[in-house]
Amino acid sequence: MTSAALLHLDSGISPAGSVSRTLTARFAAAWRARHDGAARVRHHDLVADPVPAVRAAYADLGRRVERKGVLSLDDVAALVESPEEEREWVLTRSLIEELRAADTVLLGSPMYNFTVSTGLKAWIDRITFPGAYVDAGTGEKLLRDTRVVVVAARGGGYGPGTPREHFDFQIPYLRAWFGSLGVAEGNVHVVTAELTRVDDIPALDGLQSLAAESLARAEAAVDAIAAAV
Ligand SMILES: Cc1cc2nc3c(=O)[nH]c(=O)nc-3n(C[C@H](O)[C@H](O)[C@H](O)COP(=O)(O)O)c2cc1C
Repeated sequence: MTSAALLHLDSGISPAGSVSRTLTARFAAAWRARHDGAARVRHHDLVADPVPAVRAAYADLGRRVERKGVLSLDDVAALVESPEEEREWVLTRSLIEELRAADTVLLGSPMYNFTVSTGLKAWIDRITFPGAYVDAGTGEKLLRDTRVVVVAARGGGYGPGTPREHFDFQIPYLRAWFGSLGVAEGNVHVVTAELTRVDDIPALDGLQSLAAESLARAEAAVDAIAAAV
């Protein structure tokens, strides 16, 4: 088995009883067992260790880089013009390098108000730096072969034919965003656990068995993907 690197991100605000965190932990344990001593795992809890929101100096540096085209990370560093930009770039570069180093990205994502959580969005905004996932020399997409496993949890149901089918701005958003970074569509695996709030929300009464089926399907999908990637 060759060396493999897993970047494990969690982004739900309530660790106790978290469905997404339970499923990402299940995936990480299976993945680690499969890759044995050759595995490197970086766990970044985006709630316990939040990524600071991007500021004006981040956008200023980004615009300067965009005017030049695709640059190496060292060449971006050479364009920094102020202590504020330096602070923004130091925060950003380490996260970009973390993502670039991963063979597999495991992302736990609860749905909040039909989309991703604030902690995840802060990470997304910071690491989506112009040209950061393109080889400055060859133009090659650096994340083309990166495998992504999104574990989505949502209190309600958004499947085909449900009343809120078109309210899902979480999974389509994450698919589009990973695609925009250059991750191949076939390398993005999405596992979804729905109706997680069935015991709390009266409007979901009677859907307990659907919720249990959704969770069982999610657990099986996690196991199958962990055995394959
Ligand atoms: C701030 C907040 C907003 C939420 N918004 C939605 C929502 O728009 N749709 C939904 O189906 N569930 C919503 N939920 C419920 C969560 O998606 C659900 O509890 C999910 O299981 C959270 O993931 P976790 O179990 O990993 O913490 C929301 C929960 C919180 C705390």
